[in-house]
Amino acid sequence: MIDNKKRIVVLLGPPGAGKGTQAELIIKEFSIPHISTGNILRGAIQEGTSLGKKANAYMTKGELVPDELVIKLVEERVQRNDCREGALFDGFPRNKTQAEMFFRMDYITENSKISAILIDLPDEEVIKRLSNRRYCPNCKSIFNLIHKIPKKKINDTYYCDNCGSELIIRDDDKVQTIKNRLKVYHSTAGPLIEYFKKKNVLHVVDGSTGQKRVSEEILDILT
Ligand code: AP5
Repeated sequence: MIDNKKRIVVLLGPPGAGKGTQAELIIKEFSIPHISTGNILRGAIQEGTSLGKKANAYMTKGELVPDELVIKLVEERVQRNDCREGALFDGFPRNKTQAEMFFRMDYITENSKISAILIDLPDEEVIKRLSNRRYCPNCKSIFNLIHKIPKKKINDTYYCDNCGSELIIRDDDKVQTIKNRLKVYHSTAGPLIEYFKKKNVLHVVDGSTGQKRVSEEILDILT
């Protein structure tokens, strides 16, 4: 809680900007749950649920999953007890329609303190980072073969520093799919960012500085 208000943090930005990386820090610092629509959808794909089957076709191409599906899963997620004092939204809302739906959710009330943080990063850096990303399918930790190298490696396989699981390359981190994700981002981000700006809750952070510097800027904004 912040001044008795629910703390709502929204992370915006292109794929690979560092939303998931910064989310790890924010949720620890403020004890709020991490609602990553990407992680929830990947979990549904892993479990083979009907949501996962529907989402998989879009995600492997780098397209957005239909708004109704995403909204439904977010609305269900925020009803859980752990969201009572606030939540961090990562990867949602993703376009203007989702932003309108977000502000209409019963969960967002006058008693919510909303901070939207846009982590910005040029396309060339996105491609470089994502093609070097390794991801833990178990605890969701994020690594990078240039900037955050996992400590354990056997043959060509890396293991999670946090839980020891085998790290994977995400299906949508192939260069062609990354390029399509960027195309989708550039076609939807403008109106989304404008929407948050008009609500007077938008902050912009340069994502090209090191992870620590980005974290410091975000903590400054939120405290
Ligand atoms: P989602 O999982 O949300 O992916 P994304 O937005 O494309 O973002 P990423 O997770 O790829 O990147 P990130 O910004 O979290 O970067 P990270 O911290 O890992 O969505 C995936 C798909 O799901 C979508 O394409 C869509 O199909 C679907 N979907 C999800 N939400 C949806 C929605 N609301 N509506 C419709 N469809 C939806 O960092 C990247 C790498 O860089 C890492 O290796 C990290 O170690 C490194 N790094 C991070 N910060 C730094 C730094 N400062 N300096 C150097 N390296 C850094």
